[in-house]
Amino acid sequence: MKLKITITALCVLSFSLIKAQKVNVAKAFSAAAKQTEVLIKNVDSARVIKPNQVSPRTVENGQFKMVVSKDWTSGFFPAELWFFYQYTKDKKWLALAKKYTEDIKKEQFNTGTHDLGFMVYCPFGNGYKLTQDTAYRAVIIQAAKSLSTRFNATAGVIKSWDHNGDKWKYPVIIDNMMNLELLFEATKLTGDSSFYKIAVSHANTTIKNHFRPDFSSYHVIDYDTQTGNVLKKNTAQGYADESAWARGQAWALYGYTMCFRETKNKAYLAQADGIAGFILNNKITPADGIPYWDYNDPKIPDASRDASAAAITASALYELARYSTNSKRYKAAADKILVSLGSNSYTNKTGAQYGFILDHSTGHRPAKSEIDVPINYADYYYLEALLRSK
Ligand code: GLY
Repeated sequence: MKLKITITALCVLSFSLIKAQKVNVAKAFSAAAKQTEVLIKNVDSARVIKPNQVSPRTVENGQFKMVVSKDWTSGFFPAELWFFYQYTKDKKWLALAKKYTEDIKKEQFNTGTHDLGFMVYCPFGNGYKLTQDTAYRAVIIQAAKSLSTRFNATAGVIKSWDHNGDKWKYPVIIDNMMNLELLFEATKLTGDSSFYKIAVSHANTTIKNHFRPDFSSYHVIDYDTQTGNVLKKNTAQGYADESAWARGQAWALYGYTMCFRETKNKAYLAQADGIAGFILNNKITPADGIPYWDYNDPKIPDASRDASAAAITASALYELARYSTNSKRYKAAADKILVSLGSNSYTNKTGAQYGFILDHSTGHRPAKSEIDVPINYADYYYLEALLRSK
């Protein structure tokens, strides 16, 4: 209710018109650390009962939800622990990060999903960056090999999902851009350019087929692997096939920013600038910068927000600000989002919501799942954005 009143008040102003405020990283990290200590206690208690459910994902209908390691979100919790270690340099967080990262290790051999970047690269990539542990390096390389098995050279893209075979032959979702970072890293670690080439092919094909002229993105593109032609342009998690699902736009922004970092190809920078323009020029998003779950939901302003989309966007904008001529605008927009997320409207009080840091994300509205809830990936990208803001 409190959020609703705040939102209604803010709706009279649009995000595109608002000046940024100063982010208090130390305060936000301190609040987040206290919450995460609560979360760890809840994780440990839950694991006594169901040991194969390794990571916390969300809270739904008041219930704490844990997931098995093959869930696409399993890597975010251990990866957050690496962020706490990076920020504090406290060995306590190092030990915790190591411990919970181990639970995801077996997913390096998972060839049944495109989500290996999220599941494996978030914990092991951050862990490797901070420790140079060669065991982590080996996991990253194996995960990149597993992900590469899902590439089809005729279509030029990595297959996202194996489910819904009656609906799609070879579905590729915009989220898949995020998993390319794992491939770029594997080439750097091994010198084997095949991973890099797959990532570049996927990014180029996605520019060609996933975007509308206003730089908004479709969610699902279905490909014919005999011809490489596009069969369908659909949504799975958005409001409609032709709508702009908020998290999809955030994944696209982050994905092309990262692709520019890894390749220095100006086409990726132009794409990221275009996507940022769609997100920031949009008059739909209220002044606090936290988008509705889909830019085209006709129920707006009575539609749920997606704090996760905002956190991903903020993190991406901080990086894009380093490469783009629109640097000032991107940094101001990212600051504004972090100030909003760090406020009482979005940050849970210590002890609330089982220890998740942020509230008010929307996971999968069409499936009536995870609506206006805390979600692990919102917390992960929020912490990453805080680190990048410095
Ligand atoms: N990758 C799935 C999601 O963003 O919900």
